[in-house]
Amino acid sequence: MDKLAIVGGVRLAGEIPVSGAKNAALPILCAALLTEEPLEVENVPHLRDVDTLLALLARMGVAIEREGPTVRLQAKRIVSPEAPYELVKTMRASILVLGPLVARCHEAVVSLPGGCAIGARPVDQHIKGLQALGATVRVEHGYIHATTPGLRGARLVPDLVTVTGTENLLMAACLAEGTTVIENAAREPEVSDLARCLVAMGADIDGIGTDTLRVRGVSRLHGARYRVMPDRIETGTYLCAAAITGGGIRLTRADPGSLEAVLAKLAEAGCRIETGPDWVVLQAPARLRAVDVRTAPYPGFPTDMQAQFMALDTVAEGSGVIRETIFENRFMHAVELQRLGADIRIDGNTAVVTGVARLDGAAVMATDLRASAGLVVAALKAEGETIIERIYHLDRGYERIEEKLGALGAQVRRIR
Ligand code: UD1
Repeated sequence: MDKLAIVGGVRLAGEIPVSGAKNAALPILCAALLTEEPLEVENVPHLRDVDTLLALLARMGVAIEREGPTVRLQAKRIVSPEAPYELVKTMRASILVLGPLVARCHEAVVSLPGGCAIGARPVDQHIKGLQALGATVRVEHGYIHATTPGLRGARLVPDLVTVTGTENLLMAACLAEGTTVIENAAREPEVSDLARCLVAMGADIDGIGTDTLRVRGVSRLHGARYRVMPDRIETGTYLCAAAITGGGIRLTRADPGSLEAVLAKLAEAGCRIETGPDWVVLQAPARLRAVDVRTAPYPGFPTDMQAQFMALDTVAEGSGVIRETIFENRFMHAVELQRLGADIRIDGNTAVVTGVARLDGAAVMATDLRASAGLVVAALKAEGETIIERIYHLDRGYERIEEKLGALGAQVRRIR
């Protein structure tokens, strides 16, 4: 299993481009299931999660051509509306095929995502919404079986804000008969990116970017060409990487507008931030100030940036309180950070991090995607070498990470 070796202490400097957003690319690729015409998706990042999803779509009969960051998909006929456990278990986002399959094929058999390291992560809201749209759903032997004579528009009010839940219901509603209103919809920029792609495919959606999406169903969608938005979490992660080293970097092909909560916190930590339409420049102070973070649905502070900010606080001046409100078990990186010498006390969903003068390199274990990113950020500051094990988690969400960090001057190598 691949490991990453990082020698900390180098100030990061330079310029790198941001990749396409993983969490926007995944639902947009699934939208190809909604039409028999070709969907050409640009700026798709080269990531393990994308490979997994494309393998799943290919198994369903979708013709796929991939050329660099462009993927052309055509779902002329769906041969099997099924997502097996073997594929779904490695990536929870596979649940995103459920809505499109039910809408297009009137049936779907999709494995439950199963346990996940960061919490229970049920899909009850996806199921409840599809039932309200007229699907009959039973869960048997670990599989969701959904059938419908044809979906009908309805008013949907999920009990909580769910990103992939909103995306699944939005895709299903596009082909339902009549109007669907999704209240309490997730406002994450990736949901809006999917909605704009669906509009390019002929969907009729109002309220994009708000918590109320109104969809007037159409009988069919057509092909389109769509460019995936830049990855705001990748952007934020590299900004944190530079910040912890006291460095200065410029990220191009970025979307600073999708990252305001994160940029505000970096400024509060003492970084100088400048933004343009598609770039961000960060200049870090010699020592960061600790900041408090409370994760919340967009436009609040993203849970996917929580681990990276915990890493920043470990060496900052003062102490920071980190509250995780989205997932109940998303502090696994804290014990690994402690192995590097961090001072972190955890009480339920709250972590109190007191900055220490130095971290020391050690062997640590990546436990999930963003926890791994937090470890990378800390390793860049730790004295000596840190070996991060199980970086397949990192490969699920960060494109060419050692190359990009290397371009900024970091001493990083992959051990195969
Ligand atoms: C998406 C992102 C993930 C991010 C998360 C929160 C993708 C592919 N992944 O995950 O990177 O960390 O949003 O911003 O976009 N919940 C239920 N029932 C449901 C659905 C969700 O109880 O049916 C709960 C979850 O357990 C969690 C909370 O709602 O506590 C939010 O989860 P959700 O927004 O659905 O996360 P994902 O869409 O899985």
